[in-house]
Amino acid sequence: MNPANNQVYPVIWHNNAVSLIDQTRIPNEYAFVEIHRSEDMARAIKTMIVRGAPAIGIAAAYGMYLGAREIETDNRDRFLQQLEKVAEMLRATRPTAVNLFWAISRTLKVAYETLGTVEDLRKVLLQTAQDIQIEDLQTCRAIGDNGLKALPANPEKLTLLTHCNAGALATGGYGTALGVVRSAWREGRLNKLFADETRPRLQGAKLTTWECAQEGIPVTLITDSMAAHCMKQGLIHAVVVGADRIAANGDAANKIGTYSLALVSQAHNVPFFVAAPISTIDFELADGSGIPIEERDPMEMYQVGDTMLTPASGVEYYNPSFDVTPADLITAIITENGVYPPGELALSRQRRTLA
Ligand code: MRU
Repeated sequence: MNPANNQVYPVIWHNNAVSLIDQTRIPNEYAFVEIHRSEDMARAIKTMIVRGAPAIGIAAAYGMYLGAREIETDNRDRFLQQLEKVAEMLRATRPTAVNLFWAISRTLKVAYETLGTVEDLRKVLLQTAQDIQIEDLQTCRAIGDNGLKALPANPEKLTLLTHCNAGALATGGYGTALGVVRSAWREGRLNKLFADETRPRLQGAKLTTWECAQEGIPVTLITDSMAAHCMKQGLIHAVVVGADRIAANGDAANKIGTYSLALVSQAHNVPFFVAAPISTIDFELADGSGIPIEERDPMEMYQVGDTMLTPASGVEYYNPSFDVTPADLITAIITENGVYPPGELALSRQRRTLA
């Protein structure tokens, strides 16, 4: 965290290593893990020390540089072959968020296109990771400000609901869905935020509420099953969530439970927004049916607080970590380039004007 402005940065390049906020320990502890090797970066992504689509893209880009540093050759071809292996290891960490694959492809492309010595390639890889990180922070600020234009005009002070954590912790800083919340708060348009707890990893309860508390953004925690009841009472004016991968038709994968929330929003006539950078859009996929859904350790579901419950024998498990919200349940997709109804997402490719 930057003490001057309470800003949270989950990935920091410092003293020739990467410092990651250990997101498995928040809110109990605010601690950093120092990463020196690409293998450790892969483990940090897999175990969710760093998580959230853009943040794992940034972490993977630094992982590519750390890997490049470990390759012991001056031969360019051998270097690139070894770099492909680092990319493979990093790609194998988490399957759903496309930003991971996007960032790795971007760093590889830069390496192939850079002329010069292996040392030149290493330098350009570090620069690319830093560029990706800085661009993501600018992108999130633009998403936040674009989101303001999309939110309902009435009432003046809105109560928003979000799921999981699509905040500074999940990005280069500021956040996507929480970026919209932050911009609304800054402009006096936010009454408060409702945060779903987000079973089973509790990103909403542990991370989103913590982030809001750092900046004094009023936040109310609810369990996932309470959203419909809150909407029925008229407590929620709009929902804003992030995304891990959006198909060309606007179908959006996000944390498990997002799809149910979209259905509940439709039933109560509550606008449902997805906020994400263009790098989260997978234009190669026609629709959401091709999005790979990560399945995680079923024991995540049996952990309650610090207690690991012992399942009765014979019980089976299913722990998909993401679901896909069909485009027709999404009011609009908020990007750094503008706000698009899902059917017009292709237009987002053409406009790229970051401040
Ligand atoms: O499993 P996680 O915690 O990495 O899942 C994160 C989410 O689903 C976020 O909503 C998404 O990555 C968007 S982050 C800006």
